Formats: sequence, structure tokens, C-alpha cells
Amino acid sequence: MKGVILAGGLGTRLYPLTHVTNKHLLPVYNKPMIFYPIQTLVNAGVTDILIVTSGPHVGHFLGVLKNGKELGATHLEYAYQEKPDGGIADALSLAQDFADKDSIAVILGDNTTDADISEPVKRFKDGAVVFLKKVPDLKRFGVPEFDPKNPKNIIEIEEKPANPKSEYAVTGVYLYDNNVFDYIKKCDPNFAGRGELEITEVNNFYIKAKKLSWEELNGHWSDAGTFDSLFMANDYWATQKK
Ligand code: TTP
Repeated sequence: MKGVILAGGLGTRLYPLTHVTNKHLLPVYNKPMIFYPIQTLVNAGVTDILIVTSGPHVGHFLGVLKNGKELGATHLEYAYQEKPDGGIADALSLAQDFADKDSIAVILGDNTTDADISEPVKRFKDGAVVFLKKVPDLKRFGVPEFDPKNPKNIIEIEEKPANPKSEYAVTGVYLYDNNVFDYIKKCDPNFAGRGELEITEVNNFYIKAKKLSWEELNGHWSDAGTFDSLFMANDYWATQKK
């Protein structure tokens, strides 16, 4: 399995910090944010990694990550997303050549977790796996609705629901087989009314094909895309170190 970290977007909710550099290079305690998802992949044995990035500060990545060896990557590649806010699925579409025929472990570059995903990575055969976490602020995320007869099955994932149908958020950690690139081609930019290609629509295609399973992400997990969540991520990782 290969690894993909999505580090595009404009990070507008973190202006003026993201006028200085790309969101994923901002500090989370003692490291640039993107070191955390790279570490999660490397810890799971995924060391062939693509970073997809975009926006005005793309050049900053090379100087920080270099060839990735210091972080445990055996191979590091970069891709440039032309429309910086084209959406998570648009960013992921750039990984097709890199993935070749392989499956991929995908992490959003602003997600930090200490969960160990090595077992699900080892077990993965085909389809898609989403990692879920109970969170208090569900309305910011994709939220699954479970089959009341069999909660192992997700019926649908709703993007930023007004009335969430479960207590779980879909985190920014996913495993996909190579069909993901065909599903992305079917995505509708108006799916969530934002003009973006949404990963939630991709996951719903897998649900329709009965090929989506889920795991609870065991451990701390946080995104860092707002001032509050960035502060909380810093606080968590600083406390861990003491
Ligand atoms: P978001 O936080 O949804 O978007 P953003 O990073 O552009 O921030 P803002 O809403 O404040 O402007 O994105 C979540 C992650 O997905 C982020 O870490 C980067 C990645 N992403 C891309 O790679 N390309 C994109 O087009 C988008 C929208 C996000």
C-alpha cells in the first residue's frame, strides 16, 4: 500500500497565519503539522508517500521535508493541485499515476492522531475503509448513518449535517483500492453546494457498491483547520511530551 497526504486547500479559516505559509507547515507543538500524518503512515509501514499540495506557499514544503528520509519515508513525491480549493477528492485525483495499480492510505494533512492504523492497513484487501471517531462538534464533519439492523453497515454519509444521524465523525484517514479514481471522475462539484469535489460523495459511491467498511480510530484525533482545533492539537501534543 502507498500513502497520500492531502495538503492543498487555502486554509482560509486560519488567515492571517496561512498568509505566512501553508497550513500544513504551521507548528503543532514542536513539529510542522504535516510531520504527524507522515509519522502515522510510516508507523503503519507505509513509506512510499505522495504529498499533494497547492496554493501560494507550495515551495516551502521541499525545504522542510526534503526527500522524506529523515521522517522515515523511503520515497517522497509531490503533486500540485491546480485549483487550490478544488476539494479533497480533486486533490486525491492527482494521486492516480503515483498509486499505479496499488491501494492507498490517505490522510488529510491537517489531521493529527496517535492511533495505530497498521493492522487495518495489513488486513486491507479491497473497497474502502473509513475511520470514525466520536466528537462533540459533529456538524463540521461527514457523519455516518448506520443500518439499524446491522450497525456494521453504513447506509449513507452526510456532509456537515444539520441533524447528525449518529455520534461519529468521519475522520480524515481513509484506505482505498484503485477504484477510487473512477469514483472521483463521477463526482459532482455541486454535491455539497460548494463547487468542490467531496470525499463524502466518493465514500457514498463505495457504500452503494457495498464496498465500504469502517473502523473506530483508537487514540487521540483532531483536525487543526480552525484556531480552536489548532490550539487543541498543540495542547494535546505538548501535554503528551511532558
Ligand atoms: P479543509 O479544511 O476543508 O479546507 P482548507 O484547508 O482549504 O481550509 P479552509 O476551509 O479554512 O479554507 O481541508 C481539509 C484538508 O484537505 C486540508 O488539510 C487540505 C486538504 N485539501 C486539499 O488538499 N485540497 C483542497 O482542495 C481542499 C479543500 C482541502
